[in-house]
Amino acid sequence: MAKASVSDHPLIQHKLTLLRGVETESPHFRQLIQELSLLLGAEALRSLPCEPKTVQTPLGECQGHYLNVDIALIPILRAGLGMTDAMLQLLPQAKVWHLGMFRDEKELRPVAYYNKLPRGKPVKHALLLDPMLATGGSAVAAVDALKEWGVEQITFLGILAAPEGVQALTQNHPDVDIFLCGLDQKLNDKGYIVPGLGDAGDRQYRT
Ligand code: PRP
Ligand code: URA
Repeated sequence: MAKASVSDHPLIQHKLTLLRGVETESPHFRQLIQELSLLLGAEALRSLPCEPKTVQTPLGECQGHYLNVDIALIPILRAGLGMTDAMLQLLPQAKVWHLGMFRDEKELRPVAYYNKLPRGKPVKHALLLDPMLATGGSAVAAVDALKEWGVEQITFLGILAAPEGVQALTQNHPDVDIFLCGLDQKLNDKGYIVPGLGDAGDRQYRT
């Protein structure tokens, strides 16, 4: 069964508070999304498997550890793009496959407009990146696409969620682990997370 983990790291809570602020301008907002992604990424990847590896230091031999994972980053356009560079700093060898989706404003259903996931051998572990988990429709559709490709392990990384989104993702895909910086109270009648931070794509890209 999936678990939704909400970080209680003080750095994450501090930066999330700055991110929410209505006066936080786009350059600072983008920087905070990156910093939060780095911190959240380190938490979400705690259980990555490591292999033993011997390394020669200037003073001798040391038994170390080495990541040997088949992992890909899957940002959901647009807002997930802001999390990608930070995750690439943590996992420079990861492949990146983009999924494009926007929410239909009336029905709040995801409309997929870009999917170039390759046919054939799927990556073993996919990290799905999207700052906002609101109704959960976009995340559920993205996981559907990844499972259709054949991905075995999927981890969702988000900055903020509503309870409705967590419920939708865990009900539809109980095997997906969810890592969040914050879990808010509810959705409003327009499908926005309350108190939330507004529109994550618009605030990053000044649209
Ligand atoms: C936002 C967000 C998610 C989606 C979440 O994207 O980045 O992808 O909404 O909502 P849901 O959980 O109800 O599906 P948006 O549709 O605003 O597109 P954008 O990133 O291009 O601005
Ligand atoms: N997408 C956003 O960017 N913000 C929300 O609150 C909900 C969906």
